[in-house]
Amino acid sequence: MKAIVYTKYGSPDVLQLKEVEKPTPKDNEVLIKIHAAAVTIGDVIVVKGEPFPVRFWSGLLEPNNKIPGKEMAGRVEAVGTNVTQFQPGDEVFGDLSVCGLGAFAEYVSVPENAIALKPANLTFEEAAAVPESAVVALQGLRDKGKIQPGQKVLINGASGGVGTYAVQIAKSFGADVTAVCSTRNLDMARSIGADHVIDYTQEDFTQNGQRYDLILAANGYHPLSDYRRALTPEGFYVGTGGAMAQTFQGMLLGPIMSMTGSKTMGNMLVKPNKNDLVFMKELLEAGKVVPVIDRRYPLSEVPEAFRYVEEGHAQGKVVITVEQNGKI
Ligand SMILES: NC(=O)c1ccc[n+]([C@@H]2O[C@H](COP(=O)([O-])OP(=O)(O)OC[C@H]3O[C@@H](n4cnc5c(N)ncnc54)[C@H](OP(=O)(O)O)[C@@H]3O)[C@@H](O)[C@H]2O)c1
Repeated sequence: MKAIVYTKYGSPDVLQLKEVEKPTPKDNEVLIKIHAAAVTIGDVIVVKGEPFPVRFWSGLLEPNNKIPGKEMAGRVEAVGTNVTQFQPGDEVFGDLSVCGLGAFAEYVSVPENAIALKPANLTFEEAAAVPESAVVALQGLRDKGKIQPGQKVLINGASGGVGTYAVQIAKSFGADVTAVCSTRNLDMARSIGADHVIDYTQEDFTQNGQRYDLILAANGYHPLSDYRRALTPEGFYVGTGGAMAQTFQGMLLGPIMSMTGSKTMGNMLVKPNKNDLVFMKELLEAGKVVPVIDRRYPLSEVPEAFRYVEEGHAQGKVVITVEQNGKI
């Protein structure tokens, strides 16, 4: 089969399209013919091996998993003898960070618990754009941020892979949502349901006197003390990403700030799991959430897709389309 392979950490130049052996499913595994995958900034970080601590997960000197890629959607081609939840022909999607990556390939073999049935109303490309980014947003808002109907929720970085889901998921919980993005993304943010938009090139939301019950920081940077000031007295700040300084402040200062006063501040790390994939499937099938896809690239152009994502200005998701019988 064709796959994107890398054997040493580095820029997207280390990614090569190669012919490798097609996997065979073990007893508990499902062999999937991948139709589409998605590139996240996390994939770029894993392939670079930077910042260094990522290597404690991905391999100290060289990558443990030679085929990168987390988010994918495809069709089940074969199942192991102990598989009970899937059968050949099923359309599935999943986040492969729980089982050794491998989404940038024609096939992958994964434990059945890593995947769920694909939302019936989505194309493979749309479904591949969901598994990690949507679940980060879901867990940040629901589990860490304790979102409630009627709350004022602000999403910083609302136009990216995580932010476009966060806006829609927050709306589905009945929140009043403010999306923070740049000028060119204001209309898109409104179109996915934001009640209010703030153009960060014109206005600093931490300085305008407004207070929010929940702030999800998906991108950008503000000092943690500014985020804290923009919260209501019992408010929650959840950092999912953004600038390195934002991440480290959330990790180190968040727990200390939470001890003094009634505001709760901190980061979250996504915990991929099947229940949340199914939760997202239901929201997607109900039409409450729609993936926003910016660009599509063929498998052979994964390095170009990485370069684009690395620039940090994607509007929603960047998808890889895998050829089927010579056709895209
Ligand atoms: N915690 C976890 O477990 C977890 C899991 C997955 C991802 N993440 C992290 O979550 C973060 C977001 O991921 P993503 O996939 O959404 O990234 P992304 O798609 O690459 O984000 C790009 C978007 O961010 C916007 N942006 C850039 N600078 C901004 C600023 N100063 N203020 C507001 N928006 C800004 C860009 O729009 P403009 O350029 O037009 O502003 C663009 O639409 C990343 O740091 C990622 O590493 C964390």
